[in-house]
Amino acid sequence: MPWSGRGLALTGSRFTVDLLPMYPRDLVLPDRSFFLFGPRGTGKTTWLRAVLPDAHWIDLLSNRQLVRLTREPDRFGEEVEALAAGQWIVVDDVQRLPKLLDQVQQLLVRHARRWRFALTASSTRRLKREQANLLAGRVVNRRFFPLTASELGTDFHVETVLRSGCLPAVHAETGGDTARADILEAYAENSLTQEIRQEALVKRLDSFTRFLEVAALANARVTNVSAIARDAAVARPTVQGYFEILVDTLVGVWLPAWRPRAKIKELAHPKFYFFDPGTVGTLGGGSASADGPSVQRCIDVSGSQRPDRAAARRALLAPVVGRGPTTPYAAGFVIWLATILVQGLWQRFDSLSRGGHTPPNAA
Ligand SMILES: Nc1ncnc2c1ncn2[C@@H]1O[C@H](COP(=O)(O)OP(=O)(O)OP(=O)(O)O)[C@@H](O)[C@H]1O
Ligand SMILES: [Mg+2]
Repeated sequence: MPWSGRGLALTGSRFTVDLLPMYPRDLVLPDRSFFLFGPRGTGKTTWLRAVLPDAHWIDLLSNRQLVRLTREPDRFGEEVEALAAGQWIVVDDVQRLPKLLDQVQQLLVRHARRWRFALTASSTRRLKREQANLLAGRVVNRRFFPLTASELGTDFHVETVLRSGCLPAVHAETGGDTARADILEAYAENSLTQEIRQEALVKRLDSFTRFLEVAALANARVTNVSAIARDAAVARPTVQGYFEILVDTLVGVWLPAWRPRAKIKELAHPKFYFFDPGTVGTLGGGSASADGPSVQRCIDVSGSQRPDRAAARRALLAPVVGRGPTTPYAAGFVIWLATILVQGLWQRFDSLSRGGHTPPNAA
């Protein structure tokens, strides 16, 4: 159940106060220093501001702070040393300046429990590359996701979640599907694509954007990297690198194929899952329109990207047939047909087993 936060809006010549729904998060604040990993826009900063209102705050999204600490990273250590014992220190978006982790490590080595650090990151790529395992054993890891069903409470509606996903900003939007679709488009364009551009993770943004669209259509299906490479007109090794970027920026995860026993050669392909159904719909070129996700699941990316029309029709009809009054009659008809078939087969088998003669008592 949401609580209300206050937002101020200027409408014409008068101010109106909007009551924006704020959803309580289930994550419990650790009692020691921690990393908080989560995709962009999942609410990391908002949550930390709520649970640590008195923390000393380093916001690396602010270019001023970033430039200042890039020039003089030692200043961070001096600032922290001046703080009282027991103080929490938040370093928000630490992936923008992984070198600060050197400082955090030194502080934790010198004064193990004097201060506690909350370090947020929306990408592990640069952290892994530049400061791998630096704080292993000294800080614990926590993950943040879009809103969960329990956090949404009575606002959890399957249809809405399938269409628009669970990003907090999308759910807090009270302007309906169109407004939500706008937010999702801005999110895909700014938060995801631009971040990847800013971090110089890819050389050519146009091919990455094409890849994103095709990969989004293949969401939750067995991933055929060659077909995706062909459809996105990108080299196969490049596609593999692009998937790594999605994993490192926490935009998706691989689900390995289940195998009953360990095999030396991996024959089955894994599936790739994007973190949010609303985002994947937008990236795949869909909109938050009715039946968007159901139809998208029917798009055949392994082939020519042409929709499988019969499957799409079935998906569109499914809600009608599944819920309508025709269901019991349809089920009854299928059972009746199956019974007739089994009876016919049994009689045929019976007559053959008697040498092809009809039993004398048969009518
Ligand atoms: N619990 C919540 N209920 C409703 N809206 C929320 C909630 N948490 C965050 N939001 C909204 O979602 C948007 C993104 O939140 P926030 O900036 O905290 O995410 P973030 O994970 O820190 O993103 P980034 O990785 O880009 O820094 C904001 O507009 C915020 O108001
Ligand atoms: Mg943030």
